[in-house]
Amino acid sequence: MRKGIVLAGGTGTRLYPSTKIFSKQLLTIYDKPLIFYPLSTLMLSEVRDILIITTPNDHEHFVRLLGDGSNWGINLSYATQEKPKGIAESILIGEKFINNESCSLILGDNIFFGQNFSNRLINAATQHSGATVFSYHVNDPENYGVVKMDKNNIAKEIVEKPKSFISNFAITGLYFYDNNVVEYAKSLRPSDRGELEITDLNNCYLQNGSLNVEFLGRGYAWLDTGTHENMLSASNFVNTVQKRQGLMISCLEEIALMKGWISKEDVERQISLLKNSSYGVYLAKILEAS
Ligand code: DAU
Repeated sequence: MRKGIVLAGGTGTRLYPSTKIFSKQLLTIYDKPLIFYPLSTLMLSEVRDILIITTPNDHEHFVRLLGDGSNWGINLSYATQEKPKGIAESILIGEKFINNESCSLILGDNIFFGQNFSNRLINAATQHSGATVFSYHVNDPENYGVVKMDKNNIAKEIVEKPKSFISNFAITGLYFYDNNVVEYAKSLRPSDRGELEITDLNNCYLQNGSLNVEFLGRGYAWLDTGTHENMLSASNFVNTVQKRQGLMISCLEEIALMKGWISKEDVERQISLLKNSSYGVYLAKILEAS
């Protein structure tokens, strides 16, 4: 059965002093902790066995927030990354957990939203050969892994933070790998900046002709949370959509209930714990409607 990893380490120095005590992924985006958003993405892809990788300092905070996952009918385990030595190191840290299965990886600061995304996620998660990544048109490609394509829009190479313009298509922080991923990760060497690069891992699949690059079009939001300004924009986005629709983005209990992973009684228990927060009030509303 496919495994999932949420990578929630890093130093967060760009958000100092806000991240001096707590990891960025524990900070709030509008009405819930940032990590709820990527966790919901894995849940929507029907991955239920998930490893959360944190800094050693924040391990206990994540455990206090998320527990063993039983509130949402999922199984959460935890590991730590001593130092941010690269996103691809998460695969090596998770080797035992992955246990020769296929594995999805999501960065703990990535927020996705869009029509039919769940179906596309399930589709990617049910492929057990090769890898799937998603590309997205951005205004600032120099800040991401960027895909170089030929005339027929076939991916040729991914370049991490290109210094000169290649394309506007960034590779998002959501990756679906088959069970060769540990072997590929072991073959990686640190880059010039001393990191095991996720882009190098993706290029292993690309060179083998087994990387599927799926395009997320204009109807999707892939939000960056790298700066205070981006965090504010993401919060405003979530607030705007939720207020207009009366539907919450990344409500973990709602997803779990819809999937049949938890019961109404489980949600009732959560409501009593969440008291009169807007999150708790929303849970009461969906329970009434279900
Ligand atoms: O968000 C998508 C981008 O993420 C991709 O397009 C790039 O190819 C990929 O390298 C990455 O770029 P970033 O510049 O966003 O990487 P950053 O170092 O900021 O790390 C992203 C998140 O992962 C951040 O929340 C911290 C966490 N992290 C990062 C590293 C390097 C870890 O937990 N451990 C690490 O070792």
